[in-house]
Amino acid sequence: SETYPDLKRDSRFAQITPEHVAYFKDLLGEAAVIDGVTRNDTADDIEPFNMDWMRKYRGHCQLVLKPGTTEEVSKILKYCNDNMLAVVPQGGNTGLVGGSVPVFDEIVINMSRMNKILDFDEVSGTLVVEAGCILEVADQFLASKGYIFPLDLGAKGSCHVGGNVATNAGGLRLLRYGSLHGTVLGLEAVLADGTVVDDLCRLRKNNTGYDLKQLFIGSEGTIGIITKVSIQCPQRSAAQNVAFFGLESFEKVQQAFREAKSQLSEILSAFELMDEGSQALVHQVTKNQRPLEGQYPFYCLIETSGSNAEHDSEKLSAFLEDVMEKGIVVDGTLAENETQIKSLWAWREGIPEALSHLGGTYKYDVSIPLKDLYKLVEDTRARVEQAGLLGDTDEHPVRAVVGYGHMGDANLHLNVSTRHYDSRVEQVLEPFIYEWIAERQGSISAEHGLGLMKKKFIGYSRNPTMVGLMKNIKNAFDPVGF
Ligand code: FAD
Ligand code: MLT
Ligand code: ZN
Repeated sequence: SETYPDLKRDSRFAQITPEHVAYFKDLLGEAAVIDGVTRNDTADDIEPFNMDWMRKYRGHCQLVLKPGTTEEVSKILKYCNDNMLAVVPQGGNTGLVGGSVPVFDEIVINMSRMNKILDFDEVSGTLVVEAGCILEVADQFLASKGYIFPLDLGAKGSCHVGGNVATNAGGLRLLRYGSLHGTVLGLEAVLADGTVVDDLCRLRKNNTGYDLKQLFIGSEGTIGIITKVSIQCPQRSAAQNVAFFGLESFEKVQQAFREAKSQLSEILSAFELMDEGSQALVHQVTKNQRPLEGQYPFYCLIETSGSNAEHDSEKLSAFLEDVMEKGIVVDGTLAENETQIKSLWAWREGIPEALSHLGGTYKYDVSIPLKDLYKLVEDTRARVEQAGLLGDTDEHPVRAVVGYGHMGDANLHLNVSTRHYDSRVEQVLEPFIYEWIAERQGSISAEHGLGLMKKKFIGYSRNPTMVGLMKNIKNAFDPVGF
């Protein structure tokens, strides 16, 4: 999709001129500016900043700025504010709702040069990094100190800590470590007019007035650019174990979840769900041997993290035996070493990547009370079938309607895999899915944010009073409205 019929370029914003470009080059140096305005750089140089990870949203920016310091971010934003130039902050560009893409001709402010690890307190576990630090780099640094980053997700090799905080990313271990709203201790951000907000607190407790940093967590770049983050990191567990098992119904998945919580309690660190459709697509792309011999409508992956490998592995084996005896689980396997742990995780973590190889994917990241979680996938599949779109041909472009996600957090990823993006498919899915969720008091965005994709659907999950308050907050931080 390359056009946005519902959106119009805001005519208040200026077009970029060679004079503007000269200012930025003077400020940052030639190497930190990708310039398609005065034609020094080609469309190929700019392409990676104009296209999102799903190849669903296309931008038209001609200028990418890569600041190296907070002061430079501040000067860029002040200049843009004074000259009415629109901007889009960009981290690793792995967002899944089109928020990091400059769909008109906004200037991209890419944070990749601000990637330093600034400080780590080995006693408290407090890490301070610049916003452009890649999540995996931060985690590897922490591993060398015996700690772990309290967030993990499939895009860890590319996404930035600043992007994670800006989207309030949830990921694979939220069940264990909680949301960034709890683990982020402080941050530094720059407002649209260049004001630097220094709230880089390193304390766990700080009840002096409003907790303003919370507004930046999940704000998706709308109220300022996050430049530094301090975060509370837990001790890395000495032992990790993983089980992967098949189940006959979603009812049984819920029973298994209850049993896992009660039998594995403090060592449970992830409880993930995959349906057969999602696993068949991963198999189609990777050709890897499936973990279990038989095929089942549902699979779960359980991870435990504790301090005693033998004790944890005994507990996990006992759990698996018990749920099989009770007829909750049909078949299961336990990873016996690090390589097997990784390969079992790949069946879950590899789903988005596998889908991206197959064409276009309509992604719905939603939260629904657990009992109804999978019904959305079934109802959506029936609707797509009824509309005559299922078929994996050019005329019937939908290949499959699949579901997976963070069962432990009641967070479903409903994905509609297609040969190519097709507005007929989108019309069948939206607003149907959002209405379905609103009827059950769910959330239309559990962890990916609103971005461009869901901006106009916010009313399905937030009432007018709340949307009004959000507008007031946006106005207080950014009166011009970038
Ligand atoms: P970008 O994509 O660059 O930006 C995302 C948004 O944040 C944009 O609106 C952008 O303007 C804004 N932004 C970026 N940096 C800043 C900054 N420094 N200051 C202010 N605003 C900024 N998400 C989950 O929640 N859980 C998952 O399990 C998960 N798994 C994923 C797996 C894959 C394979 C992929 C591709 C994505 C996944 N995501 C997941 C999506 C997720 O939102 C991102 O991966 C990540 O949090 C975005 O970080 P980023 O640096 O790439 O941000
Ligand atoms: C995941 O959990 O795999 C991510 O949120 C990405 C996705 O939804 O595809
Ligand atoms: Zn997810």
